[in-house]
Amino acid sequence: MDNKRSSLKGSLLLLLVSNLLLYKSVASLPICPSGNVNCQVSLRDLFDRAVILSHYIHNLSSEMFHEFDKQYAQGRGFIRKAINSCHTSSLSTPDNKEQAQQTHHEDLLNLVLTVLRSWNDPLYHLVTEVRGLQEAPDAILEKAIEVEEQSKRLLEGMEKIIGRVHPGVKENEVYSVWSGLPSLQMADEDTRLFAFYNLFYCLRRDSHKIDNYLKLLKCRIIYNNNC
Ligand SMILES: *[C@@H]1O[C@H](CO)[C@@H](O)[C@H](O)[C@H]1NC(C)=O
Repeated sequence: MDNKRSSLKGSLLLLLVSNLLLYKSVASLPICPSGNVNCQVSLRDLFDRAVILSHYIHNLSSEMFHEFDKQYAQGRGFIRKAINSCHTSSLSTPDNKEQAQQTHHEDLLNLVLTVLRSWNDPLYHLVTEVRGLQEAPDAILEKAIEVEEQSKRLLEGMEKIIGRVHPGVKENEVYSVWSGLPSLQMADEDTRLFAFYNLFYCLRRDSHKIDNYLKLLKCRIIYNNNC
């Protein structure tokens, strides 16, 4: 009886671990081998990898937001202040599936690129500043590092995808400037914690948008909308 139970436990654990490994190894696949100018990966595979990555990034971002909220934000009423105050709020992004459906796929692809670029700088600083946060759980720091890294990879992948879908189109390096570093370093605890909260909130919001747009784009471009 005990043996049975412990072997069941063992195999559940094994299953869990192998799922995690699978998840990890998929997420650490380069979208294209680095330095490879003529990427041989098919457009379908590029999209598959991009969607897996964006889903992974959104998952980590949501978990960071919840962990931060639980640890620091309870009862401070941050959520009401956070609405509509993201550095990317000035970009006009479709708010729902219908609006996204009506957006030309070239514009949607560029939008994903622009939003990703707009996060380069804040993600870099987020990692540094989280290190200095008092009693920051390791889990938040680890996820912040992972999100920074995977976002760069997704950005490279998006550049490859756009190069395939619209070869020869000259890229514009547009992005939304983030100026939130001073508030992450503010001496006043309430102000500083709100700045972190806001950034985690916006990251969750934007990673969700990117994930949704990419799924939609994959469906449109690869499956001709039959999905
Ligand atoms: C993130 O992914 C893990 C593993 O698949 C899952 O257990 C967890 O619920 C996800 N978290 C969120 C916030 O979706």
